Amino acid sequence: MHDFKFKNNELHCESVKVSTIAKKVGTPFYLYSHHTLVDHFTKIQRAFASVHPIICFAMKANDNLAVLTTLANQGAGFDIVSVGELKKALMIGADPQKIVFASVGKTEEEITFAMKSNILLFNVESLPELEEINRIAKRLQKRPRIALRLNPDVEAATHARITTGTLKNKFGIDLRTARKIMKSRRKYPHLCFSGLHVHIGSQIITSAPFIRAIKRILAFVEDLRHDGIALEYLDIGGGLGIIYKDEKPQTAQNFADAILPYLKKTDLKIIMEPGRFIVGNAGIFVTKALYLKDNGVKKFLIVDGGMNDLVRPTMYDAYHEIVPLKKTNAKRAKMDVVGPICESGDFFAKSRVLPMVNNGDLLAIMSAGAYGYVMSSNYNVRGRSPEVMVKGNKFAITKPRETFRDLIRGETVPKFIR
Ligand code: LLP
Repeated sequence: MHDFKFKNNELHCESVKVSTIAKKVGTPFYLYSHHTLVDHFTKIQRAFASVHPIICFAMKANDNLAVLTTLANQGAGFDIVSVGELKKALMIGADPQKIVFASVGKTEEEITFAMKSNILLFNVESLPELEEINRIAKRLQKRPRIALRLNPDVEAATHARITTGTLKNKFGIDLRTARKIMKSRRKYPHLCFSGLHVHIGSQIITSAPFIRAIKRILAFVEDLRHDGIALEYLDIGGGLGIIYKDEKPQTAQNFADAILPYLKKTDLKIIMEPGRFIVGNAGIFVTKALYLKDNGVKKFLIVDGGMNDLVRPTMYDAYHEIVPLKKTNAKRAKMDVVGPICESGDFFAKSRVLPMVNNGDLLAIMSAGAYGYVMSSNYNVRGRSPEVMVKGNKFAITKPRETFRDLIRGETVPKFIR
């Protein structure tokens, strides 16, 4: 599960009291457990051991250098979507031969940099992108491996904004076009057609949509084989769901039991791209209660973190459990937990029953390790929160709180408007 637990009525991360960290770094902040990261990574590794997959952590979920290092030390590769992510992965010494690059809008600069870095695979999302990669490969005299990202037209039964595998979504190449591309692959002599990629969405809690997608891909692989085309890699993407509230997601082992029989039908090397499963419950966001306001109709608990720090509730109506760092017998009441930002959408919870905490009390917003810090912004001229990592009884700030100086770096007022 995870390493955020109450001991003597106080929330701990591994062996460290979370309030001790709060005293040191101030609030709000993100906190990650090293042990939970390793544990979740290992769970996938073990469940799929029989096919020895390359597990490329989807670093869009969390690109903190300490998190990346923790996972690379366990043998993780990385699924990247930008040159920025690639540079961060290379910074921590990631093996480029374990890096896969998906993104519907790879720029010439990004393709060039990734090609020069000798990454394992470009997951190609359209025909014009394929042509561009071929052109750049010719110029650089390289022959990069590519995988076509197939859009299998499968509903993932998740939030509409995190569904990616239907033809209403911008992702991947429809099967008909993909077949045409594979047949005419000799038109792209500078590319090594070496795999297929599929990613149907995120926070998917059953195996059925994965199986539907994989069956379509395997049928596609079979067709190619009939045409004498053999591939090397099958990248099955990410998307494994986690518990935020009362979901009953499949465990890594359930997932493996469900899909390994299909994967074993091929001799393709398997790549996986889990993000949320590894880091989601390995992180929390800690914030301080500022004021409890009662307008006669509703109660609002106003905290010092905002939607600029953690946008998931605002953006996806996502549920995040909220717990005071100190267990309390205070009276409970229904309230909205809101931030200080000037938007009605700035909330962490709506009509949630919580103890009536006092000003200054600390709260943990749970399951905030994935798509938390990485989606934060400087809206309302607010500096991003620090990120802290715990391992055993040690903790360290891995990224400091942004200062006002950070926020205005490079900003000037041109002379002609003064
Ligand atoms: N591979 C590809 C190509 C992806 O686009 C994604 C996520 C993943 C892997 C990792 O998916 P995961 O295992 O984390 O589900 N911001 C949203 C989630 C967006 C997911 C984007 N793609 C959220 O906060 O729920």
